[in-house]
Amino acid sequence: MGTLIKGGTVVTAVDTYCADVLVEGESISAIGRSLPAERHAIVDASDAYVFPGGIDPHTHLDMPFGGTVTADDFETGTRGAAMGGTTTIVDFALHTRGKSLLEAVETWHEKASGKACIDYAFHLTIADGRDETMAEIPKMIDEQGVNSFKVFMAYKHVLYVDDETIFKTLQRCRDAGGLVQVHAENGDVIEVITKQALAQGKTEPKWHALTRPVECEGEATHRAIRLAEIAGAPLYVVHVSSAMAADAISDGRKRGLPIYGETCPQYLVCDFSDYERPNFEGAKYVLSPPIREKWNQSVLLHKLKNMELQSFGSDHCSFNLCGQKDLGKSDFSKIPNGAPTIEDRLAILYEVGVNGGVFGLNAFVALGSTNPAKLFGLFPRKGTIAVGSDADVVVWDPAVRRTISAKAHHMNVDNNVFEGMTVKGRPRYVFSRGRMVADGDAFVGSKGAGKHMKSARFYPVQL
Ligand code: URP
Ligand code: ZN
Ligand code: ZN
Repeated sequence: MGTLIKGGTVVTAVDTYCADVLVEGESISAIGRSLPAERHAIVDASDAYVFPGGIDPHTHLDMPFGGTVTADDFETGTRGAAMGGTTTIVDFALHTRGKSLLEAVETWHEKASGKACIDYAFHLTIADGRDETMAEIPKMIDEQGVNSFKVFMAYKHVLYVDDETIFKTLQRCRDAGGLVQVHAENGDVIEVITKQALAQGKTEPKWHALTRPVECEGEATHRAIRLAEIAGAPLYVVHVSSAMAADAISDGRKRGLPIYGETCPQYLVCDFSDYERPNFEGAKYVLSPPIREKWNQSVLLHKLKNMELQSFGSDHCSFNLCGQKDLGKSDFSKIPNGAPTIEDRLAILYEVGVNGGVFGLNAFVALGSTNPAKLFGLFPRKGTIAVGSDADVVVWDPAVRRTISAKAHHMNVDNNVFEGMTVKGRPRYVFSRGRMVADGDAFVGSKGAGKHMKSARFYPVQL
């Protein structure tokens, strides 16, 4: 006996059509009009879209950062993800300087295994450019199923690496079938400006943004793209927050370079004025790169529409206001950077993109699911509705309105940067490898049911 998802409109990155979807075991076994009900359980998809489960290519769960550890671990973070229609995440395993990449991957397996409610894959960060580290990259790709490696141009003395390390990583990934991801902000300049601001007694949350000017992101994005060009390597720019950085990516792509860009929900709906909220509430928006002036939002949205930015990640990195963000009550540079966005990623993309009339359903699926699956070696097992693909399916009700609130969300954190925003469209049901994990407002999945997915070698796909 299978599950027949009946009467919906199937939407992939390229097609929109009316069909039933039959799930048998963990995968999709048939798609067609009026499939026979036989002895299958029937799931009502009438007046609803049938999307492939979302792929969130950018999460930080159970991650030590900023003197604390993220509020969400693999259980609570993936529970929130599932409730929002995401069925696979790609989380960052943090490499420690002087240690092996394998150790980082093993540590992240321990964090995820037995806890994750949905499937997961890993990226690695690169903390140093030692020969041993570089030599491990091909092994990580071929043996561990990690196809992407993030380098940080910011967070001086913490995650920051220099151009030499970035360049070596680009060359190694080019040869081994890996994709370099870059956090593009000029960490040296930020360090100087931050020290100067603090010396002048500028301590409130808004100084986080004012000490990370947009030019720091623009310059670093441009530099990273030129480094990739010299190396002849592909590059993926994570969490693009500004028109200036997005324009650098568009310029690189116009020169024919295999450059990809990702933006995140917080950059589409939050703006600089959020930092000025009273009672230290501005700390919720302390994340990097920072939230920009409002006019950047529509530029980023149109870059998504035109596929000049091809991927939509949450950059979920949750910290409680009470007990974590308040570590920086008297010094903005001590506020842990990050926000809880894993649950509402797709709702925000749907609200501003589809309901806003900027792009259609196919682009929504491409950005939130198919493109990340292709880039991170999970397609076609993940990221589409097709016979043989994993039955990671979202039955999406486009008519239901809800107001986002920390009181109602399923993440383990006391704040939500989208608090009070009303969105139309939400999952009616979510399936992860054939098992229902979300039934309306109820989480019906289970801790530990998620499996590790090995990413295939990176292929420079045209997006
Ligand atoms: O503020 C952020 N983005 N925190 C997570 C770490 C990162 O840079 O992605
Ligand atoms: Zn980053
Ligand atoms: Zn991140």
